[in-house]
Amino acid sequence: MAKTLITGGCGFLGRKLAERLVADRPDIDLVLADQAAPPADWKLNHDWLDHARLDLLSGDVADRSFIDEMMTDDVETVFHLASVVSAGAEQDFDLGYAVNLLGTIGLLERCREVGTTTGRAPTVVFPSSLAAYGSGAGNPVVDATALRPETSYGVQKATAELLLNDYHRKGFIDGRGLRLPTVVVRPGKPNLAASGFASGIVREPLQGIDTVCPVSAGTVMAVISPRRVIDAFVRLVELDSAELGADRTVPLPGLAMSMSQAIEATRAEAGDRRLGTVAFVPDPDVQRIIDSWPPSIVAERAEVLGLVGDRSVAAIVRQHIEDELGGLNST
Ligand SMILES: NC(=O)c1ccc[n+]([C@@H]2O[C@H](COP(=O)([O-])OP(=O)(O)OC[C@H]3O[C@@H](n4cnc5c(N)ncnc54)[C@H](O)[C@@H]3O)[C@@H](O)[C@H]2O)c1
Repeated sequence: MAKTLITGGCGFLGRKLAERLVADRPDIDLVLADQAAPPADWKLNHDWLDHARLDLLSGDVADRSFIDEMMTDDVETVFHLASVVSAGAEQDFDLGYAVNLLGTIGLLERCREVGTTTGRAPTVVFPSSLAAYGSGAGNPVVDATALRPETSYGVQKATAELLLNDYHRKGFIDGRGLRLPTVVVRPGKPNLAASGFASGIVREPLQGIDTVCPVSAGTVMAVISPRRVIDAFVRLVELDSAELGADRTVPLPGLAMSMSQAIEATRAEAGDRRLGTVAFVPDPDVQRIIDSWPPSIVAERAEVLGLVGDRSVAAIVRQHIEDELGGLNST
């Protein structure tokens, strides 16, 4: 039976996508491949992990033998989410290129082999990032905005977008990409994304924890909620491939959210929770990275394809409370 593979399947979006795929299709044959184990409490909270057709594989997506192990001939769809994220790729140049670029090429090459063996090009879904734009991208960014990344992570994402187009053009894969704004609110522990504080300034105060914001209160970031991203992944694979045209990656809409708006919305939606505080402690390195990203994204192509963003910052905070904290006004 045909399989679906999620690389980075134990990460934030990988787990959410896996939950959604199993909920939509209980008979799905699903493989989660990641170098990290799932968080210890995940299984306890999610019965679906006992799903009969679920495999967890542990390894490095930059290792060709692991690629062969996870990308077997019966995988029809792969969501390639494993990545060294923004600040991680900035801190460790070699690791960023090894995983984000060479690992992606290794996976694309393996998909090409699978296509040759089976006569069916696998569908490859790739999440790019707003880091693929640069500081001169303008405000708002629109579908036609050129990619001029100014970080290693951004260069790796932009390059992967081009590779997706070319492998698709040659018929080696059915390539489909989304260019994601910053996804908030990320639950649990932060990863090495430079944008982690944008979730932290909502998530930590709601749990009564004090936190810091390394950028100014007026800094504006383009954001989207986890629900809208997972909806977009699911919709993207349902689309007729021809609808995407030659440029296979669709920019998703990014709601402009200032840090002060996020803090205000958290206060307004917190109900009777005792909120932790947010202290502004400037970090010029983080501010520089965030300033190189566009503060809002207008995405007409996504809208035409039925890929939608969020209406308000308050709605994003409410969603986090509902999905991660057991609903409104509980403490
Ligand atoms: N969350 C966001 O705001 C955002 C925005 C734009 C793009 N993206 C992209 O979406 C994807 C998922 O992001 P996320 O927020 O879930 O990140 P995450 O850090 O929560 O998950 C990434 C997963 O990849 C795994 N991984 C990293 N290197 C690996 C390797 N060499 N081999 C195997 N597994 C490896 C990690 O262990 C982690 O579980 C990434 O490609 C990221 O670049 C995310």
